[in-house]
Amino acid sequence: MKRSEGEREPEVKEGTPQEAEDFLDLRPRKLSEYIGQRQVVETLEIAIQAAKKRGEPLDHVLFHSPPGLGKTTLAHIIATEMGVRIVTSSGPAIEKGGDLISILTHLERGDVLFIDEVHRLPKVVEEFLYPAMEDFCIDFIFDKGAHARSHRYRLEQFTLVGATTRAGLLSAPLRERFGILRNLDFYSVEELCQVVKRSAALLGVPIDEEGTEEIAKRSRGTPRISNRLLKRVRDFAQIRGQGRIDKTIADEALQLEGVDEMGLTSLDRRFLETIIRYYKGGPVGLEAIAATLQEETDTLVDMVEPFLLKIGFVARMQNGRKATELAYQHFGIPHAESGRQLTLPTRKKH
Ligand code: ADE
Repeated sequence: MKRSEGEREPEVKEGTPQEAEDFLDLRPRKLSEYIGQRQVVETLEIAIQAAKKRGEPLDHVLFHSPPGLGKTTLAHIIATEMGVRIVTSSGPAIEKGGDLISILTHLERGDVLFIDEVHRLPKVVEEFLYPAMEDFCIDFIFDKGAHARSHRYRLEQFTLVGATTRAGLLSAPLRERFGILRNLDFYSVEELCQVVKRSAALLGVPIDEEGTEEIAKRSRGTPRISNRLLKRVRDFAQIRGQGRIDKTIADEALQLEGVDEMGLTSLDRRFLETIIRYYKGGPVGLEAIAATLQEETDTLVDMVEPFLLKIGFVARMQNGRKATELAYQHFGIPHAESGRQLTLPTRKKH
């Protein structure tokens, strides 16, 4: 658990260089710095304080949400708050039982093992994880049939933090072994304004209230997108402006990025326009939309649909996806089922 002086520094393995840069620059490192997800933060504060008071490792935690809402950030914060190391991996990267055993046998008491995309763990690997999570041991089986013998290897007590974009794809036995299961929701514009302000201060870029709000409003409810857009707007302000971010600079920079006034990207717009123009508003199956767009179905399910459902532009029906009247209004396209469309204000066409 808590390391004394001279002991090994926490080993932190990060993802891509860009991710690492975002982490170093902008991620909150403590729960007290974390903006939004109030109930999740409170749950973690209580669980962490209680575990520390008892001198025990934290229960296993499962985070579920669309990408960019803070699952990885919270895993790192948990490790920091508990004063332990974090080892990170992902479901598809752990291909064999042996890969997982090697990770588990190197963990020290209290360490956090973060597994991203935990729903993509192969079945054989998952089965090693059950006793590891429940009893902190692994069962090795030698030989087969009548000669089969098993040997139990004791592990140090660790905390598994799992992250998934698809709670529904997680097997029931795995899901049941997590003690804390939390869903992260999209952030409000107010919360994203706080994220943008905090990040702008860390980057040392001057920004006014309206510029902040413009970026927040166009971030698809997602702090990772806020931070990415802020960096693009900062570049734009530096080269095309005076280095200061206001509404006009943010608007021009985000238009150039292909992000519209609702925060929709070109893929979001292609998704909606495919349903509206190609499939007469739907309902249409996701596979058909994916085939028309030449995109992976998984990309649409993970990255595109959740926000469009959240803002009510898409409805999920039994027989497929339907574009709602709001989506038609956004594109300024008359909606066949509504007699009111001509009197409604239309948004800019893209
Ligand atoms: N940067 C990215 N996500 C954040 C959050 N939830 N709070 C503060 N800063 C962030």
